[in-house]
Amino acid sequence: MKTLIKNIKQIFGVSTNRNTNLKCGNDMSMVEIIENGWILIENDVIADFGEMKNFTGIDDWNNTEIIDSNNGLVLPTWCDSHTHIVYAGNRTGEFVDRINGLNYEEIAKNGGGILNSAELLSKTSFNELYKQSSERLNKIISLGTGAIEIKSGYGLNTNDEIKMLQVIKELDNNFPIKIKSTFLGAHAVPKTMSQENYVNLIINEMIPEIAKQNLADYIDVFCDKGFFSPEETEKILLCGKKYDLKPKIHANELACSGGIQVGVKNNAISVDHLQYTGDEEIKILKKSNTIATLLPGTAYFLNLKYPPARKMIDSGLSVALASDYNPGSFPSGNMSFIFSLACTIMKMKPVEAFNALTINGAFAMELHDEVGNISRGKKANLILTKKIPNLEYIPYSVAENFIDKVIINGKIHQDSETNY
Ligand code: NIG
Ligand code: FE
Repeated sequence: MKTLIKNIKQIFGVSTNRNTNLKCGNDMSMVEIIENGWILIENDVIADFGEMKNFTGIDDWNNTEIIDSNNGLVLPTWCDSHTHIVYAGNRTGEFVDRINGLNYEEIAKNGGGILNSAELLSKTSFNELYKQSSERLNKIISLGTGAIEIKSGYGLNTNDEIKMLQVIKELDNNFPIKIKSTFLGAHAVPKTMSQENYVNLIINEMIPEIAKQNLADYIDVFCDKGFFSPEETEKILLCGKKYDLKPKIHANELACSGGIQVGVKNNAISVDHLQYTGDEEIKILKKSNTIATLLPGTAYFLNLKYPPARKMIDSGLSVALASDYNPGSFPSGNMSFIFSLACTIMKMKPVEAFNALTINGAFAMELHDEVGNISRGKKANLILTKKIPNLEYIPYSVAENFIDKVIINGKIHQDSETNY
């Protein structure tokens, strides 16, 4: 089966070479564009593209579906490299508590926050958890996400952590987009255990069992003030390494916690959040291959300070942007809103933010061979926009729906809750 998309005003994020590099520093403001173009899809991959004026036609029109883009733009789908979409219910009560003056750390200390979600998750069946999570996933695909990382971390005991990871596996089996799975047992310490005993449980029981059942690609730790120390983080990461679980960690969201140092030292694929990042941390990241993944939705929702994106890029770092979709600190997977925050508040140029949301996000999940830009042989995962003037219009129009169609593996995604 072939599909031809014609009359595209601009194709954004094109790469003639499938083996693209991670974009760092100045390169983050570079993007390849085709004006007035076409794209040919064969089965689930991008077969070819070019300019309309050079279009010479195709051999078998009878087997080819035609989509007229009507002068819209075409972009690669978003690559959301940090989410927690497998959770039960919501935390609107806590949202109101924060409006009334409590902060995120106070709520966590009083047994709310992550522990609140863990309690609810333990009472929720596998099927119900799958249903709620698949509704979220369906919705964010409609918003243009075509590859995603999902974390555990609301189980906080072996059975419930495994239940969450099995839900992620089931989503991966049933949905057409690429899903990477991360074990985040070290998200918070459950009420019934000491910090030390819980770290030992993660190391002695959870990691070996999860590895045995092959349920995770990565390992994560919430390395921050009031959660896990750099020493505990390192112990957990070293254990994960024995089972080939590479680190992607939560660092420096609430304080300058040493999370960046411990992540880089243990070859983390990415360190994420990074609100508290000084010159020293930037220097350490500069010497490493670790990606700085920024989650401005969380800074917005918790009213925290934002990470120094401008300084990071000007210092030559590679920055990715992700949603952090979770019930407590940002209950949304809308990447075009993240696009807006990155530009308006963190002063990322629209093209830098676009690269951070696509190809660099793909690198932060090690999916850059398959998604992240428009190149021959990669998955045909595309966003077709309505008639909008340019790329800048997406962050400028603040979460307005600019999407006409989302194509995943060469097929138009239908937004229906009963899809998968
Ligand atoms: O990435 N920082 C840690 N974990 C999540 C929040 C989890 C929650 O509050 O449920 C985050 O912000
Ligand atoms: Fe997170």
